[in-house]
Amino acid sequence: MNMHSEREARGFPRGQASESEHVEDSPRQAAGSFNGKDAPAIAGAALKEPYYRPVGREAEVFEAAYRARMAVLLKGPTGCGKTRFVAHMAWRLGLPLHTVACHDDLTSSDLVGRYLIKGRETVWADGPLTTAVREGGVCYLDEVVEARKDTTVILHPLSDDRRILLVEKTGEELHAPDSFMLVISYNPGYQHILKDLKPSTRQRFVSLDFDYPPEDVEAEIVVRESGLDAAVAGRLVRAGRRMRRLVDSGLESAPGTRLLVHAAALMKEGLGPQEACEAAIVRPVTDDADLHKAMMDILNATF
Ligand SMILES: Nc1ncnc2c1ncn2[C@@H]1O[C@H](COP(=O)(O)OP(=O)(O)O)[C@@H](O)[C@H]1O
Ligand SMILES: [Mg+2]
Repeated sequence: MNMHSEREARGFPRGQASESEHVEDSPRQAAGSFNGKDAPAIAGAALKEPYYRPVGREAEVFEAAYRARMAVLLKGPTGCGKTRFVAHMAWRLGLPLHTVACHDDLTSSDLVGRYLIKGRETVWADGPLTTAVREGGVCYLDEVVEARKDTTVILHPLSDDRRILLVEKTGEELHAPDSFMLVISYNPGYQHILKDLKPSTRQRFVSLDFDYPPEDVEAEIVVRESGLDAAVAGRLVRAGRRMRRLVDSGLESAPGTRLLVHAAALMKEGLGPQEACEAAIVRPVTDDADLHKAMMDILNATF
């Protein structure tokens, strides 16, 4: 089941495959849909296709942005497929994926690199952004607004047509190769006003909107991800969509596709629908007794 291959889905190279193995089994050739002849598959690219069900023209826009050497911003609520999309696109383009989950304490050194003390020596260690710029590949900064403000200073010359990374501490000015792509994501509803992306930052990025997929597509995803029976998955998705509407009644974050997949996986393991959904959907999204009850009512009416 796909949930168990999360590391692969995120684009982590599997095992210790050698460089020649990667080149022979070019993921780009396997995809057959991308004809960027000047972008050979790079060692470290995922060999196995991370499953992604397109909802619109997002893959075409992403590919065009890659060929035009532009950076991409993915907007949308949590659990609606942004991370999976990036993993899929990196595979499709034959590029390694460097994912950074941003948080309040993340500084530009975490991205660019720092000197480490090893014995009596000081050695420079590249951060994930620098690695991606040196070697090529997709660098995905997940929830970028969470990171400290000093990171945007780094991202500006890299995300516009200069495509430069200034590594201040080593005095290097790195020019990103054509195979480098910067991708950032953010969840517009979730952050505080104070933590919004500045216009000067967001206007450097080609932007894609993500949302919960249409009902039939979401059911297809749940079936594919969990192996749950299609009829039961259909009911689960219908209940999930009704639960999302509780946002109007004060539910802080709506359950995304991720939570429906989680509930489906528990049902597949033999739990009843109510029990599975309470554990995988209801409790993770609310501590409020009234909202909990409202969600259970929806589930009891559905199953
Ligand atoms: N379009 C999609 N195709 C395939 N799986 C999807 C899709 N949308 C959501 N999912 C499922 O939902 C889960 C959460 O998606 P993820 O990409 O992690 O969300 P986000 O990064 O937007 O928070 C994925 O692991 C996958 O199981
Ligand atoms: Mg994500």
